[in-house]
Amino acid sequence: MVFGKKVISFLASGRGSNFKAVAERVLDGSIKARLGILVVDRQDAKALDTAKQFGMESCFIDPKKYPDRRAHEEEMVRILRKHRTELVVAAGYMRILTPFFIKEFRNRIINIHPALLPSFPGVHAQQQAFEYGVKLTGCTTHFVDEGTDTGPIIMQAVVPVKDDDTLDTLSARILREEHRILPESVNLFCTGRLKVRGRKVIVLG
Ligand code: GAR
Repeated sequence: MVFGKKVISFLASGRGSNFKAVAERVLDGSIKARLGILVVDRQDAKALDTAKQFGMESCFIDPKKYPDRRAHEEEMVRILRKHRTELVVAAGYMRILTPFFIKEFRNRIINIHPALLPSFPGVHAQQQAFEYGVKLTGCTTHFVDEGTDTGPIIMQAVVPVKDDDTLDTLSARILREEHRILPESVNLFCTGRLKVRGRKVIVLG
């Protein structure tokens, strides 16, 4: 079956290593898609440098310039639409998206979360898991819905917690898996193999 190339845009707030992991696979042709735009909510986001290196469009939309979250997201949607975005990848985007934004891209926003959801949602997930003392943690990709990290799960990877781990060594082990499952999830989306049925994501083929 032949699929048209989907346009992928990204939301990020910081370092941007997950954005880089996906964008590299688009650029080397192993994900059959086109890059749209990177949108950041922080001017100092390192992800901006990566986009520049890739010759990819990017923009900083300053939340402080808007009266409320809705107005900020309206501008985001305008820019994402202008770039004909079909999939939004939240790659370390540290703001909760409002129902307005989610409605615009229902089942077309993929988020990466550094824990095995539904355990440890929200911020500092690696630290939450580390301090709780779990023996296994990991990462999750999911479609974004109106809750905090509650949307239908696409992929998960399990990572052991070792007795001599520090928060840094554990976070690095999780991040390696993030860089594997996020591009893979995006690839499944771009090849039309993800179907959402209620809370479940069925992977076809
Ligand atoms: C990643 O670990 C990602 O899973 C996490 O932020 C980090 C961003 O790193 N996201 C969340 O915690 C979202 N709730 P990156 O900027 O290098 O991709």
